[in-house]
Amino acid sequence: MKKYYLIALVLGIFFACGGSDKPSSKSSSVSNNSPAKKEVDGKKIWKSLCIACHGLYGDMEVNGAKNLNLSTLALEERIEIITNGKNVMTPFKGTLSEEEIKAVAQYTIDAFKKK
Ligand code: HEC
Repeated sequence: MKKYYLIALVLGIFFACGGSDKPSSKSSSVSNNSPAKKEVDGKKIWKSLCIACHGLYGDMEVNGAKNLNLSTLALEERIEIITNGKNVMTPFKGTLSEEEIKAVAQYTIDAFKKK
Protein backbone atom coordinates (compact mmCIF):
# COMPACT_ATOMS: atom_id res chain seq x y z
CA MET A 1 0.00 0.00 0.00
CA LYS A 2 2.82 2.35 0.88
CA LYS A 3 4.45 1.68 -2.50
CA TYR A 4 1.36 2.81 -4.40
CA TYR A 5 1.38 5.90 -2.31
CA LEU A 6 4.94 6.63 -3.35
CA ILE A 7 4.19 6.00 -7.02
CA ALA A 8 1.22 8.30 -6.80
CA LEU A 9 3.43 10.90 -5.17
CA VAL A 10 6.10 10.61 -7.87
CA LEU A 11 3.46 10.79 -10.60
CA GLY A 12 2.03 13.81 -8.84
CA ILE A 13 5.39 15.53 -8.94
CA PHE A 14 5.73 14.71 -12.63
CA PHE A 15 2.35 16.18 -13.37
CA ALA A 16 3.12 19.22 -11.29
CA CYS A 17 6.24 19.80 -13.35
CA GLY A 18 4.34 19.30 -16.59
CA GLY A 19 1.78 21.79 -15.37
CA SER A 20 4.35 24.41 -14.51
CA ASP A 21 5.86 24.05 -17.97
CA LYS A 22 2.69 25.22 -19.62
CA PRO A 23 2.55 28.78 -18.25
CA SER A 24 6.20 29.33 -19.18
CA SER A 25 5.56 28.26 -22.76
CA LYS A 26 2.58 30.58 -22.74
CA SER A 27 4.69 33.52 -21.59
CA SER A 28 7.23 32.80 -24.32
CA SER A 29 4.47 33.02 -26.88
CA VAL A 30 3.56 36.40 -25.39
CA SER A 31 7.14 37.60 -25.83
CA ASN A 32 7.00 36.22 -29.36
CA ASN A 33 4.11 38.56 -29.98
CA SER A 34 5.85 41.69 -28.73
CA PRO A 35 8.34 42.08 -31.61
CA ALA A 36 5.29 42.39 -33.85
CA LYS A 37 4.34 45.49 -31.85
CA LYS A 38 7.52 47.28 -32.86
CA GLU A 39 5.98 50.72 -32.74
CA VAL A 40 7.05 52.43 -29.51
CA ASP A 41 4.39 54.82 -28.26
CA GLY A 42 6.09 58.08 -27.30
CA LYS A 43 2.82 59.56 -26.09
CA LYS A 44 2.29 56.69 -23.67
CA ILE A 45 5.81 57.15 -22.28
CA TRP A 46 5.23 60.89 -21.99
CA LYS A 47 1.99 60.36 -20.06
CA SER A 48 3.54 57.88 -17.65
CA LEU A 49 6.97 59.40 -16.97
CA CYS A 50 7.13 63.05 -17.98
CA ILE A 51 3.92 64.82 -17.03
CA ALA A 52 4.83 64.92 -13.33
CA CYS A 53 7.15 67.83 -14.12
CA HIS A 54 6.28 68.94 -17.64
CA GLY A 55 2.51 68.47 -17.52
CA LEU A 56 0.33 66.80 -20.13
CA TYR A 57 0.81 69.73 -22.51
CA GLY A 58 4.50 70.29 -21.81
CA ASP A 59 3.96 73.68 -20.21
CA MET A 60 3.57 72.92 -16.51
CA GLU A 61 7.12 73.94 -15.57
CA VAL A 62 7.13 72.14 -12.20
CA ASN A 63 10.54 71.92 -10.48
CA GLY A 64 12.03 74.29 -13.07
CA ALA A 65 11.07 71.99 -15.96
CA LYS A 66 11.43 73.76 -19.27
CA ASN A 67 8.29 74.66 -21.16
CA LEU A 68 8.53 72.30 -24.09
CA ASN A 69 6.21 74.47 -26.16
CA LEU A 70 9.02 77.02 -26.18
CA SER A 71 11.88 74.60 -26.63
CA THR A 72 13.96 75.04 -29.76
CA LEU A 73 16.17 72.01 -29.14
CA ALA A 74 16.81 69.54 -31.95
CA LEU A 75 15.90 65.88 -31.62
CA GLU A 76 19.49 64.90 -30.78
CA GLU A 77 19.70 67.45 -27.96
CA ARG A 78 16.40 66.26 -26.51
CA ILE A 79 17.58 62.65 -26.66
CA GLU A 80 20.75 63.70 -24.84
CA ILE A 81 18.82 65.46 -22.03
CA ILE A 82 16.28 62.65 -21.66
CA THR A 83 19.04 60.05 -21.62
CA ASN A 84 21.41 61.74 -19.18
CA GLY A 85 19.14 64.20 -17.40
CA LYS A 86 19.88 67.84 -16.71
CA ASN A 87 19.90 69.58 -13.33
CA VAL A 88 16.58 68.63 -11.69
CA MET A 89 15.51 66.41 -14.56
CA THR A 90 16.30 62.78 -13.87
CA PRO A 91 18.14 60.65 -16.45
CA PHE A 92 16.02 58.02 -18.14
CA LYS A 93 18.71 55.78 -19.58
CA GLY A 94 18.10 53.18 -16.86
CA THR A 95 14.33 53.28 -17.33
CA LEU A 96 13.87 53.55 -21.07
CA SER A 97 15.54 51.90 -24.04
CA GLU A 98 17.27 54.02 -26.68
CA GLU A 99 14.31 53.42 -28.95
CA GLU A 100 11.85 54.58 -26.30
CA ILE A 101 13.89 57.70 -25.54
CA LYS A 102 13.96 58.56 -29.22
CA ALA A 103 10.20 58.03 -29.49
CA VAL A 104 9.38 60.28 -26.53
CA ALA A 105 11.89 62.91 -27.74
CA GLN A 106 10.15 62.90 -31.10
CA TYR A 107 6.83 63.17 -29.31
CA THR A 108 7.94 66.35 -27.53
CA ILE A 109 8.67 67.84 -30.96
CA ASP A 110 5.48 66.65 -32.63
CA ALA A 111 3.04 67.31 -29.82
CA PHE A 112 4.02 70.73 -28.56
CA LYS A 113 3.87 73.88 -30.60
CA LYS A 114 6.98 75.93 -31.04
CA LYS A 115 6.42 79.64 -30.84
C1 HEC B 1 11.74 65.49 -12.13
C2 HEC B 1 11.07 66.34 -13.07
C3 HEC B 1 11.18 66.02 -14.54
C4 HEC B 1 10.75 64.88 -15.20
C5 HEC B 1 10.07 63.67 -14.59
C6 HEC B 1 11.04 65.08 -16.60
N1 HEC B 1 11.65 66.28 -16.79
FE1 HEC B 1 12.27 67.02 -18.57
N2 HEC B 1 13.06 68.64 -17.62
C7 HEC B 1 13.00 68.88 -16.27
C8 HEC B 1 13.75 70.07 -15.95
C9 HEC B 1 13.93 70.66 -14.58
C10 HEC B 1 14.29 70.55 -17.17
C11 HEC B 1 15.17 71.76 -17.40
C12 HEC B 1 16.62 71.33 -17.25
C13 HEC B 1 17.54 72.53 -17.32
O1 HEC B 1 17.79 72.99 -18.44
O2 HEC B 1 17.96 72.97 -16.27
C14 HEC B 1 13.82 69.62 -18.21
C15 HEC B 1 14.12 69.74 -19.56
C16 HEC B 1 13.69 68.91 -20.55
C17 HEC B 1 13.96 69.05 -21.95
C18 HEC B 1 14.79 70.15 -22.59
C19 HEC B 1 13.94 71.34 -22.91
C20 HEC B 1 14.78 72.54 -23.30
O3 HEC B 1 14.35 73.27 -24.21
O4 HEC B 1 15.83 72.76 -22.69
C21 HEC B 1 13.32 68.03 -22.59
C22 HEC B 1 13.29 67.78 -24.10
C23 HEC B 1 12.66 67.23 -21.60
N3 HEC B 1 12.88 67.79 -20.36
C24 HEC B 1 11.92 66.11 -21.87
C25 HEC B 1 11.44 65.25 -20.88
C26 HEC B 1 10.86 63.97 -21.16
C27 HEC B 1 10.64 63.39 -22.54
C28 HEC B 1 10.56 63.39 -19.96
C29 HEC B 1 9.99 62.01 -19.70
C30 HEC B 1 10.73 60.89 -20.25
C31 HEC B 1 10.93 64.34 -18.92
N4 HEC B 1 11.47 65.45 -19.53
C32 HEC B 1 10.74 64.14 -17.58
C33 HEC B 1 12.32 68.12 -15.33
C34 HEC B 1 11.75 66.88 -15.56
